[in-house]
Amino acid sequence: EKVVLAYSGGLDTTAIIPWLKENYDYEVICCCIDVGQKEELDGLEERAKACGASKLYIENVVDEYVENYIMPTVQADAVFEYKYLLGTATARPLIAKVLVDVARKEGAVAICHGATGKGNDQIRFELGIKALAPDLKIIAAWRDPKWTMDSRESEIEYCRAHGINLPFSADNSYSRDRNIWHISHEGLELEDPSCAPNYDHLLVLSNSPEKAPEEDVHLSIDWEKGVPVALNGEKLSQREILEKLNEIGGQHGIGIIDIVENRVVGMKSRGVYETPGGTILMEAHQQLEELILDRETLKYKRLVSVEFAELVYAAKWFSPLREALTAFVDKTQEYVTGTTNFRLYKGNIIKEGTTSPYSLYDEDIASFKTGDLYDHHDAEGFITLYGLSTKVRAMKLNNKK
Ligand code: ARG
Ligand code: SIN
Repeated sequence: EKVVLAYSGGLDTTAIIPWLKENYDYEVICCCIDVGQKEELDGLEERAKACGASKLYIENVVDEYVENYIMPTVQADAVFEYKYLLGTATARPLIAKVLVDVARKEGAVAICHGATGKGNDQIRFELGIKALAPDLKIIAAWRDPKWTMDSRESEIEYCRAHGINLPFSADNSYSRDRNIWHISHEGLELEDPSCAPNYDHLLVLSNSPEKAPEEDVHLSIDWEKGVPVALNGEKLSQREILEKLNEIGGQHGIGIIDIVENRVVGMKSRGVYETPGGTILMEAHQQLEELILDRETLKYKRLVSVEFAELVYAAKWFSPLREALTAFVDKTQEYVTGTTNFRLYKGNIIKEGTTSPYSLYDEDIASFKTGDLYDHHDAEGFITLYGLSTKVRAMKLNNKK
């Protein structure tokens, strides 16, 4: 019987290969899912096989990740707990989907992952698998009673004892998760919320704002139905736009956040996230919606944004509610077409004007001059009625004194 292992090439998932063979007697099929983590994928196949895997799949799903997972999140303006742009939370369901596809292709009976028993990722992987393949068995190595390793040293030791000698270092680093949208950092000094992050040591995608160039940079993004289609006038794929924005945003120190968030399992956890291109896209998308969406839709959409973010954070990507919210969001994006201009300067995104053929903004109405469609005197009757309940209540309460 076969098991499909979510494989990154790192020490944890490498130690799982001999462990699975020893404890479950499965044939191990490794599957490395490329969502833009930019890890060294060369040599991975030899490594997996040298450790006892019978096969390694490397599945590149970067475009699918950007188009079907990231963009719906941008269109939803979904931000978790005011700040987190959901970089890990949006990639996990896709990873689960690819694992299921490979398991089907191989006729495997189980899927194994190496997420810890304390985090959100175990829940996201497992709910993803349950939603798509309820019959498959799930092995969470770190929660398994047969798993005895509790440190990098013990994993290295276990590998050695099973004839695997790889140049893994025993040093602890940050716990990181990277993809084309973001990189997260947890652990080390971040575990003490009173500590300032050691940015010199920590940042991977970005300069800190004080190290950003003295010169600002001007950018313009064209949008069609809520997705970016061109950068500075050049038509590009969504992935290419995101890659370029990561590069430029990273240079200018855009999108570094430091938060204490509430994990699904109940604990608070402190993390630093770098989301350079994503922060720009989110901001520019909102900039465009301000001009296009009517007041009530915008207001309702804010509720949807919060609900969408919480669902996705909490592992419910594949759920009827998330799909229904996406259907609502899709409808709102019908006219979110236009151009957003802004500049980047030392960690800031500064707006430089927005245009859209569907803008609801009317200069004649908004202008301080009086025009045909708006007569100042109409405001008087409006305020009388609009303020009636306020006035009546004050009169009644005053009479009681
Ligand atoms: N705390 C973030 C989240 O729950 C990031 C998790 C990062 N995962 C990791 N395996 N390092 O989405
Ligand atoms: C892990 O525990 O595997 C990483 C952190 C998380 O999933 O939240």
